[in-house]
Amino acid sequence: QALYPVFTRQEVGRHRSLADRVWVTYGSEVFDITDFVELHPGGPSKILLAAGGALEPFWAMYAVHSQEHVLEILRGYKVGEL
Ligand code: HEM
Repeated sequence: QALYPVFTRQEVGRHRSLADRVWVTYGSEVFDITDFVELHPGGPSKILLAAGGALEPFWAMYAVHSQEHVLEILRGYKVGEL
């Protein structure tokens, strides 16, 4: 199992734009999704709503994400743990 760096939620919150890079959390994992923003099937503006924070409140509203292939995409962008 890979060892990932540990970040605080405050550090994640500093990554809210393409210029500062876009980080999100899911559970206790941290992802740098900057390179996925333009590829998001739901559009860049929607995915940027979660920038710097947790995905859960948004994914609770858009059940399209409750699929293994979506989690697989997310996994590819993992950079750390909380
Ligand atoms: C659709 C990934 C964040 C809103 C999708 C789909 C993927 C995806 C793969 C297509 C799913 C399918 O049709 O099988 C992601 C990832 C995210 C993320 C990896 C975070 C890293 C968000 C956020 C929102 C959002 C934060 C809303 C605030 C939507 C919507 C669709 C969608 C509305 C449906 C688009 C359509 O079919 O017209 N997302 N998403 N997504 N996403 Fe996301």
